Amino acid sequence: MMKTQVIIGSTRPGRVGPQIAHWMIEILPSGKNNEYEIVDIADWKLPIFDERIHPSMNQYKHTHTKAWSNKIKEADAYVFLTPEYNAGYPASLKNAIDYLYHEWSDKPVMIASYGIGGGSTASAQLRQVTERLKMRPTETSPAFTITRDMYGEDGQIKNIDQSFDPYKENLKIAGDELLRSGQNLESEIA
Ligand SMILES: Cc1cc2nc3c(=O)[nH]c(=O)nc-3n(C[C@H](O)[C@H](O)[C@H](O)COP(=O)(O)O)c2cc1C
Repeated sequence: MMKTQVIIGSTRPGRVGPQIAHWMIEILPSGKNNEYEIVDIADWKLPIFDERIHPSMNQYKHTHTKAWSNKIKEADAYVFLTPEYNAGYPASLKNAIDYLYHEWSDKPVMIASYGIGGGSTASAQLRQVTERLKMRPTETSPAFTITRDMYGEDGQIKNIDQSFDPYKENLKIAGDELLRSGQNLESEIA
């Protein structure tokens, strides 16, 4: 069984991150041997990184770090779902990533971004971070462009199934790459 966590990188009230995450898991390749879980950083209320010892030493002091580590350890692969803020990915996502080290290492990851310009700058920056952590980013990084007219009065994306339809195929390709990467890793370990 391969477990993939879809990690929502944005935390602001009224964000579209959760809406996109739920849309994604309907599209990502399903099967009896793989499952998805949405992990919302906002639920974890992590303070700004406050561990004294480098995470690679595995000597976590705080209860919130230990709990976050245990959650992330549950998965074999990840989707980092990031918006773009001021030509970067949000501090909330970097903070959550920086808390841990070995939990991420060697694991396959898909970087999926969104924003007015598809979040491609944030995605490229995040790829560098995943490489530093020795993760295995998929070659394909889905990028969802959200134009202003796509937002409804409630701040959510209007009719997401229809408006994100053009991104479905690319997301499936990235999802297949993630699964293959996970399977390759399993056979390396076996
Ligand atoms: C502070 C801020 C800065 C933003 N900067 C960019 C940007 O540089 N490039 C871009 O494409 N979109 C930018 N946007 C638009 C966001 O990507 C868009 O509002 C998206 O819905 C934010 O994700 P969220 O709703 O999950 O918070 C910005 C939005 C905010 C709130």
